[in-house]
Amino acid sequence: MAEYDLVVRGGTVVGAFGTTRCDIGVRGGRIVALGERLGDAAQVLEADGLLVLPGGVDSHCHIEEQMPDGSVIEESFASGSVAAFAGGTTSVVCFVQQWKGHGIAERYWEHKRRGATGMLDYAFHQIITDASDLALEQELPALVADGLRSLKVFLTYDPLHLDDAQYIRVLAAARRHQMLVTVHCENYHAINWRTEALLKAGLTAPKYHSWSRPPVVEREATHRAIALAELVDQPIQVFHVSCEEAAEEIARAQARGVKVWGETCPQYLTLTADHMDRSNPADGAFEGAKFMCSPSPRDTAEQAKVWNMLRRGVLDVVSSDHSGSGFYNSIGKAAAGRDAPFSQIPNGIPGLAARLPILFSEGVVKGRITLEQFVALTATNPARLMGLAPRKGSINVGADADLVLWDAKKKVTITNALMQHAIDYTPYEGLEVTGWPVATLRRGEVVMREGKVEAQPGSGQYLPRAPYDLLIPRNILANDFDAAPPL
Ligand code: URP
Ligand code: ZN
Ligand code: ZN
Repeated sequence: MAEYDLVVRGGTVVGAFGTTRCDIGVRGGRIVALGERLGDAAQVLEADGLLVLPGGVDSHCHIEEQMPDGSVIEESFASGSVAAFAGGTTSVVCFVQQWKGHGIAERYWEHKRRGATGMLDYAFHQIITDASDLALEQELPALVADGLRSLKVFLTYDPLHLDDAQYIRVLAAARRHQMLVTVHCENYHAINWRTEALLKAGLTAPKYHSWSRPPVVEREATHRAIALAELVDQPIQVFHVSCEEAAEEIARAQARGVKVWGETCPQYLTLTADHMDRSNPADGAFEGAKFMCSPSPRDTAEQAKVWNMLRRGVLDVVSSDHSGSGFYNSIGKAAAGRDAPFSQIPNGIPGLAARLPILFSEGVVKGRITLEQFVALTATNPARLMGLAPRKGSINVGADADLVLWDAKKKVTITNALMQHAIDYTPYEGLEVTGWPVATLRRGEVVMREGKVEAQPGSGQYLPRAPYDLLIPRNILANDFDAAPPL
């Protein structure tokens, strides 16, 4: 029997802390050797002239999420797996939604059944929309025992948003169970107030989505989310940071030693509010809905500041916030009609397959970040922050052999077909990128080669997460009084 099931030969292997030319030996789906001229392999994959990256870890994806109105996000675990592999991502953390007035257990186990139909490895964030005793006291412990390690809360959006009292209850529950809380930071009342005024003034087109939520509403909610997390002494990650003033709130808290991390997404590095002002002869101003997400994309000056926050390490994860709303069908962006006011158009844009190519091209190729920072932002940091390391996110002996063979010179014009997702458009249509994945390996198996995805349905693995060091509270408490002692 050969010593290795597979050797990836002669590639330039990239890690968060350095780059080296070596072979990778794989056995039983894991990396068992890194070295020169590894021999005796059942299969050899030549990687000469290519970069070898750890498989992307996308810690913020909306896949097959079930909504309280009975609808389901258009991207399924099966179709999402194809898109992920096509773009060089091998693991995701996606969401289970709690329906207001319900507990969390029923949806969670149902979502787990759905997750098992896909091909990529997956973990969950549980969204809390109703911080009830049923959810947090009675049902959460069983989910934690199953390896759930993160909660998501929304400080805006009907019917998802939590008020401060409910948010504090979630923080306290997370602290008791040693979980991460991820937060959508925008001020609910401020957005509603501006939205009402905009609609009254007849300003209803997609572009006014951005007018309804200027940076100050994100900054205020980010400040409040961090202050309350500091009060409870609970680690949080601020999702999809779009602007410098919100990132500055994170930087200030980090300087105080608070356990707060920040994520941004390719849309805040490449799109602007002007995209929502686009129109074309077929779709009119509705074309702008293709770029509508929350927080809103800002302007090019703000993009430069967000890049700087990545370089400073204030923001240390780039996820896609992949969100499945079709544009041309009648169940997605156009569900309320193509003339509907912006307030009735579903938020969110797809980006699962585009995440790595865009960040590589706009970041590494244009000299804004280093190759090592690219790997840290897209794989190593999200794996570490989500408790998936050392199994995921880096090329190390003992880690899963999740690898991407990357052609750093290949020029590609992004089209929706290349994204291979279930959504009928991409907001990045026509964007020219340099750098593209030529093969993706999940646990040592080639699941994508030259754009062709082949993997057994149901071969994705659930990734249970145990407690990890980043989540240990600091034990800095007002008056030394612990109102939510860890269990
Ligand atoms: O607009 C967005 N981001 N939609 C997806 C849901 C969320 O807020 O994460
Ligand atoms: Zn969000
Ligand atoms: Zn999201």
